Amino acid sequence: MKKKDFLPLHGTDYIEYYVSNSLQAARFYQSSFGFQPLAYSGLSTGNDKSQSYVVQQDKIRLVFTSPLHSGSEIGKHIDKHGDGVKVIALLVEDSKKALNETVSRGAECIRDYTSVEDEYGILEISGIKSYGETVHYFINRSGYNGVFLPGYQKWESTYTPEEVGLKFVDHMVGNVGWNEMNIWAKFYSKVMGFSQLVSFDDKDISTDYTALMSKVMSNDNGRIKFPINEPAEGKKSSQIEEYLNFYEGPGVQHIAMATENIIETVTQLKNRGVEFLHVPNEYYDTVMERVGEIDEDLEPLKELKILIDRDDEGYLLQIFTKPVGPRPTVFYEIIQRKGAKSFGKGNFKALFEAIELEQAKRGTL
Ligand code: FE2
Repeated sequence: MKKKDFLPLHGTDYIEYYVSNSLQAARFYQSSFGFQPLAYSGLSTGNDKSQSYVVQQDKIRLVFTSPLHSGSEIGKHIDKHGDGVKVIALLVEDSKKALNETVSRGAECIRDYTSVEDEYGILEISGIKSYGETVHYFINRSGYNGVFLPGYQKWESTYTPEEVGLKFVDHMVGNVGWNEMNIWAKFYSKVMGFSQLVSFDDKDISTDYTALMSKVMSNDNGRIKFPINEPAEGKKSSQIEEYLNFYEGPGVQHIAMATENIIETVTQLKNRGVEFLHVPNEYYDTVMERVGEIDEDLEPLKELKILIDRDDEGYLLQIFTKPVGPRPTVFYEIIQRKGAKSFGKGNFKALFEAIELEQAKRGTL
């Protein structure tokens, strides 16, 4: 008999970044990615420590937080890591139970269980530490009708560029240090009850220069998928090493956002200035032999440099942005699944060669 899931997760509630300018970051995600203004916290809401702007597109909610004074924990985080993901908040039914279940299995509590009440109801929150300085919050908002979290007000913005069709977070990838992949895969299985979907080793994922190993961890209902990467020995510095050097430790590498029409979504994103990794034209010479028949015409996919891969259950279309900040750290993946449940292993080689081209330009290969 299947064991009962001790940590039922209903999805990603929000992702919070610590950034040096929360308003400008939120504006970037509005203009470039089509996110809509949702909520605000700062001086005018009685928060004299930090300022946050929250944006939303369908089920994806992003929070951008900046400190208002020097010497803060948020400021130190930004100084060390650059702009980066601090909180991956997960939706639960019972924040207290989620904390107790994970702490009793070895998690470190970083936010004691609290139930916060305001005029819109009660919101429960608790949190544990994950890789690097990244944390998971367990949020129960079933008794809450406010715009975001207690303390936030609706962000009234007249600037609402059209959405681009991003629907939900498909997966979020963490980069961890040398020999740490198994430690964190074990953390997610033991502490959070996840199971391992797939693993790749350096024979699967390597080019002449770069190599990495990866294990994909998923929760029971498959709504939360966390691939964990660690660098592997290559002839030159791998993209994972480059990330670790610039982020100065483990952290979130990329967030994959799902769309139901990748051609439309990527066309919009490109029109708004989002930059994607270059894929060599040669990739399209052989891709159809590898993936077989697909619903889409090859021409627009080739034009937009969208990658294609197939597994036993179907195929997927995916594309990767360049890093979105000054440091070569966080970037995004846009993904459309047509049955496939995998992560584009067949594209890794083509993709890494593209990333190496960028690394060579940066002089960090
Ligand atoms: Fe991915």
